[in-house]
Amino acid sequence: MASTIPIQTDTFRLGFVGAGKMAESIAKGVVKSGVLPASRIRTAHRDFDRREAFSSFGIKVFEHNHEVVEDSDVVIISVKPQIVKEVVLQLKPLLTEDKLLVSIAAGVKLSDLQEWAGNNRFIRVMPNTPSAVGQAASVMSLGGTASEEDGVLIASLFGAIGRIWRADEKLFDAVTGLSGSGPAYIFLAIDALADGGVAAGLPRDLALGLASQTVLGAAAMAINTGKHPGQLKDDVASPGGTTIAGIHELEKGGFRGVLINAVVAAANRSREFAKR
Ligand SMILES: NC(=O)c1ccc[n+]([C@@H]2O[C@H](COP(=O)([O-])OP(=O)(O)OC[C@H]3O[C@@H](n4cnc5c(N)ncnc54)[C@H](OP(=O)(O)O)[C@@H]3O)[C@@H](O)[C@H]2O)c1
Repeated sequence: MASTIPIQTDTFRLGFVGAGKMAESIAKGVVKSGVLPASRIRTAHRDFDRREAFSSFGIKVFEHNHEVVEDSDVVIISVKPQIVKEVVLQLKPLLTEDKLLVSIAAGVKLSDLQEWAGNNRFIRVMPNTPSAVGQAASVMSLGGTASEEDGVLIASLFGAIGRIWRADEKLFDAVTGLSGSGPAYIFLAIDALADGGVAAGLPRDLALGLASQTVLGAAAMAINTGKHPGQLKDDVASPGGTTIAGIHELEKGGFRGVLINAVVAAANRSREFAKR
């Protein structure tokens, strides 16, 4: 079966169809981390500025999408979701099963991608906006004929811009509700923490710096210690102390319930979009 032709991990070329923000983040992360040299990455764009964003760090930039596909073994479709179908249909004759195809388009299902491409060697990846700073939380799901080796290769690419998990595609709406929309919930939390600092007498820039760094530090502790967040919370809440007084207020305000509802509401909205 053609799908079993392995991608040569030490020589494969990676192409982006759609030279936007996400493609730039992935390309930069992959080069910076040493996963691939820039000379093995290609893309195409009509605008000078977008071309420069890639060519300035050694990536080959073509005029047209078809040149990217022809010159790549792994092709990441990174255009906006609403034009994915049009772009994939245009490229269909070139999307042969010796190439591994990847889509990062939000809400576009593997079954549709595979049908439009006439190729089941597809992997769908859902990254999130912290990819821009190398801290994406990504989830991937493998299509019909994508092999285990294909999955490992894509995990190594997306591992260069953060962390990646594998999950059944039916969980992608829930993923959207948590990691897709989650950065916005945390921006709101940082803003509110900073407001609290200002209300308690801090200057704004100090309050904002402390709030952002506190969120970063708490997340790093949750990841690096491997302790359950409830345990970490208990560790810093001394009897009759300041932290338990703050926690009491959060619980009175339904903090946990509000966050749970936010994730569920966003996941439900994603499901509604998928039905349209
Ligand atoms: N940004 C994120 O954090 C994030 C997270 C999860 C998933 N995604 C997914 O990633 C994909 C890209 O998002 P993005 O934020 O990188 O968007 P973006 O910056 O708008 O990138 C899309 C790029 O595709 C170009 N383009 C438009 N029509 C094209 C065509 N026919 N052929 C080739 N390129 C074309 C656009 O050029 P023009 O601007 O000149 O039209 C633009 O440079 C989307 O499908 C999105 O759902 C993004």
